[in-house]
Amino acid sequence: MAIGKRGPASDACSDCSDSPVELSADTKALLDLFLANKAEEERRFAVLEEAAQLRKMEVDVPLTVEELQELKDTPMVSVAEFKSTFGEDWQLSQFWYSEDYAYRLAKALHDQCTPETKIAFLCCPTAYVAFQHTKPLPNARLFEYDQRFAVLSPKQFVFYDLDDPEDIPEIYKGHFDFIIADPPFLNETTNRKLLRTLKTIVNPKGCKILLHTSTEMENNGTLAKVYTEPPFGPLKRTAFEPEHGQLANDFASWGNWEGAETFGKDYGDGA
Ligand SMILES: C[S@@+](CC[C@H](N)C(=O)[O-])C[C@H]1O[C@@H](n2cnc3c(N)ncnc32)[C@H](O)[C@@H]1O
Repeated sequence: MAIGKRGPASDACSDCSDSPVELSADTKALLDLFLANKAEEERRFAVLEEAAQLRKMEVDVPLTVEELQELKDTPMVSVAEFKSTFGEDWQLSQFWYSEDYAYRLAKALHDQCTPETKIAFLCCPTAYVAFQHTKPLPNARLFEYDQRFAVLSPKQFVFYDLDDPEDIPEIYKGHFDFIIADPPFLNETTNRKLLRTLKTIVNPKGCKILLHTSTEMENNGTLAKVYTEPPFGPLKRTAFEPEHGQLANDFASWGNWEGAETFGKDYGDGA
């Protein structure tokens, strides 16, 4: 394959040859692989999008009881499928958990939930997918800025912008029994915005909060400074250490509840 570029810039270059740039076989193979992966990602997304359209239509279209049940039973994609459909957008600070970590976390979370638990996943789509793939709970919600994830389960997706931290649908105010959060940026401002959201959506009768972030936020005193008053703090570091694909940053997780230090202890690697 040859890629050539003609135009004013090339006309002005007297030393340039007119022959188009030839890609080496290795580069061409890499490019072909990239394009094939991209096409596969788009194909998977289109399939999810179509299924999501059907599920959204369930209230408007007179579907049979069986059809409705079938749509409701549509299982959540696996973490592997999620990762091959939704590439990380680094502009949005997206770094997905490893499959192993996402499922270990899902299991530990399920062990703390009942079928009625109202659980919110803030800025952590992989954790949400693993949780709902393992065993879907009707009152689980994904709060996310990236609207691509709405196709996963349109009725459980809540658009959320950390820059507008209290702009939350009325029904979710004072609503949640459990909140998992992994904010996109590693600084005090972001954590202060997150705290404002937490204050808006926690069930005042009690709510477990599990925060994932870089250990730097603990080491530089940000967590102790931001999450001070109960029930939001002080936070205790849990036994769960998040794993990502290729992210070098050291991550950990913190919980607000009594005994949070042992959370994840029995869910070790490969458990
Ligand atoms: C550090 S990632 C955490 C993802 C997590 N490791 C996972 O695998 O599920 C942060 C998330 O915040 C989301 N995000 C980025 N900007 C945001 C914003 N302004 N408001 C809310 N969420 C945002 C990204 O889309 C991303 O999913």
